[in-house]
Amino acid sequence: MTGGPNLLTSKPRDLQTSGPRTRYFPPMPLLDLLRRRRSVKRFTERPVTRAEIETLLEAAVLTPNHRLTEPWRFYVLGPEAREAYGLAVGIRKARKIEDPDASRAMRDRVAAEHRALPSMIAIAIVKSDNPEIAEEDYAAAMMSVQNIALAAVELGLGTAIRTGAVMGDEAARAAAGVAENERIVAIVNVGEPAEVPTGPKKRAAGELTKWVE
Ligand SMILES: Cc1cc2nc3c(=O)[nH]c(=O)nc-3n(C[C@H](O)[C@H](O)[C@H](O)COP(=O)(O)O)c2cc1C
Repeated sequence: MTGGPNLLTSKPRDLQTSGPRTRYFPPMPLLDLLRRRRSVKRFTERPVTRAEIETLLEAAVLTPNHRLTEPWRFYVLGPEAREAYGLAVGIRKARKIEDPDASRAMRDRVAAEHRALPSMIAIAIVKSDNPEIAEEDYAAAMMSVQNIALAAVELGLGTAIRTGAVMGDEAARAAAGVAENERIVAIVNVGEPAEVPTGPKKRAAGELTKWVE
């Protein structure tokens, strides 16, 4: 089955063909934006404005959600909260290091790195006792994460999604300020990209698709 453009091989109009880019050039059609989005590891020091974050969250709540549960809750972390969250991440990393000095240095470095992030959003969902609703709500919240990531590209901003067991850590939960009946499902770091990586090579959809009669 052919017809539409192959997103992985066709190039957006003004996309550089090789090497890391240093920023996005919005606005752009959705398919270009999908191709452009990359996990951004390094941000510039340019702060992200409240208006920009609000735009990202407006995009987030446009996400489809079954039964209109609107399961998502967003926590925008300031420097103190980022540092506290980073400390929870750092403590977990530090535990794996035997040398006490190196272990402390790791803990402090990770906490400081989180504080220095231009912005950080914790996405949580309200827990449900119904497993079917819990799964739907998780899926919807992760789709809202993608909306945030795509809207960020349109604003010229980059994102990095972070997950992991730390999200259930009491210290991390307290840092983000989530309610008792909520669970964090993702962290999205947002900032102006210092560099947009070219990203990992991904398999073409055709390799992963069966057309079933
Ligand atoms: C649900 C989810 C969780 C992720 N968690 C992490 C994470 O904890 N740490 C990390 O470095 N990257 C994380 N990522 C980013 C992926 O590693 C990244 O999307 C992947 O390498 C593909 O790169 P790209 O985003 O540039 O296409 C996560 C992505 C998703 C969708």
